[in-house]
Amino acid sequence: MSDTTPSAPSAGTTSSAGQLFGETIMSGQHGGLGGQFDVPGDKSISHRSFILGGMAIGTTRVTGILEGDDVLATGRAMQALGADIERLPDNSWQITGVGTNGLVSPDAPLDLGNSGTGVRLLMGVVAGQPITATFCGDESLSKRPMARVTDPLEQMGAKVTSREGGRLPVTITGAETPLAADHTSKVASAQIKSAVLLAALNARGTSIIREPHASRDHTESMLRHFGASVRQAVQEDDTHHIELDGEVVLKAADIIVPRDPSSAAFPMVAALLTEGSDLHIPGIGMNPLRTGLITTLIEMGGDITISNERIEGGEAVADLHVRHSQLTGIDVPPERAASMIDEYPILAIAATQAHGETRMTGVAELRVKETDRIAVVADGIAACGGTVRYDEDSMTVTGAPVAGGVTIASQHDHRIAMSFLTLGMVSQNPITVTGCGTINTSFPRFAELMNGCGANLTAGTGA
Ligand code: S3P
Repeated sequence: MSDTTPSAPSAGTTSSAGQLFGETIMSGQHGGLGGQFDVPGDKSISHRSFILGGMAIGTTRVTGILEGDDVLATGRAMQALGADIERLPDNSWQITGVGTNGLVSPDAPLDLGNSGTGVRLLMGVVAGQPITATFCGDESLSKRPMARVTDPLEQMGAKVTSREGGRLPVTITGAETPLAADHTSKVASAQIKSAVLLAALNARGTSIIREPHASRDHTESMLRHFGASVRQAVQEDDTHHIELDGEVVLKAADIIVPRDPSSAAFPMVAALLTEGSDLHIPGIGMNPLRTGLITTLIEMGGDITISNERIEGGEAVADLHVRHSQLTGIDVPPERAASMIDEYPILAIAATQAHGETRMTGVAELRVKETDRIAVVADGIAACGGTVRYDEDSMTVTGAPVAGGVTIASQHDHRIAMSFLTLGMVSQNPITVTGCGTINTSFPRFAELMNGCGANLTAGTGA
């Protein structure tokens, strides 16, 4: 593999002062965040750029792709499946695809590292054509449920073997001619929906997928951008129905990746919580199925101004201006969960600094993310001296000063690491987070960018 292919960046980040941030980072109070924070590209759209580019006929040029470990793992997997992927000198990426039915069986297992999105979407890709691939991943990914994806793929004709309980490693042999899907998902999950849609590209006839609420619809809109016929509608009972006409020829189409609203969540909350902050965060993706946290923080009294709303490369984007604010706890409605599913850990951190209680319900899906995020967030906040009550699908945080002065383990979960580094900015004593290399999965240079805007993150010692 040459250095123009999706090789993994080295773990850790380097600050402007040249200091290396390794696995352990300590976060302390600072005088507020200011200036402009340039968040990296959207992770969901970046994964899908490599996948759809590799399944299209022709050459797709992608600018603004997130060069995080998760996305690069998807890029390497698509190369192993036969796509031609190259990083160009201007930092854009060029993907020459082989069509929806032209991929090949890889020689070795596809290792998707920490990435649930990568592994689940690629399972759909392989299930839809007569090739065989084995999927594996890191310790965290190997604990996560895969049957929710492989069950509907088996119904479409794929042959699947997996470890006990539907866990990785999973081997899939795709169907010669997949059956059109007629799938009703129990959970609002873009990963399940996308896997089925990708397998359905080669099916005869129209596939239909129903989910209990609309989850992020990047696959639907990007498939349309590549020439597929996809229809979607939210029904009166709030269920979301998607239809795709099969036997599609995808045509290469250039992509501009917006900046990731889920990554923007960290500087946004850090600025709201820290006195003296006045921060600009430009070019953030504003797909309405991703903006639940912004809505919630504004309801809590957050001073967030959204301006310059525009369409860039077919995606809604806007500039955010965030100032320090006193937040007040609210009830976050369960129907909002899908639009902010990755943002609950950082919302829980924000809630520790709010007046009163913040109640989050309908969040059982958090239990099957990179970690059991309800338990890990609640235990971590409690260890820092905060107060959280939780049960199977809810979490209630009571705002109060937080002592800090402890060490939190990321447990291979990037959003846990970044959330507790954010809490360390307002706790009475610094918070140390171990296992920070995982931040590279979604937010390379997080510590460097934070410090560039005034944060006080220092390389720590220890595990
Ligand atoms: C993603 C979907 C979400 C989200 C993940 C990215 C995607 O998972 O948590 O970080 O890109 O499709 P679910 O759809 O399973 O909730």
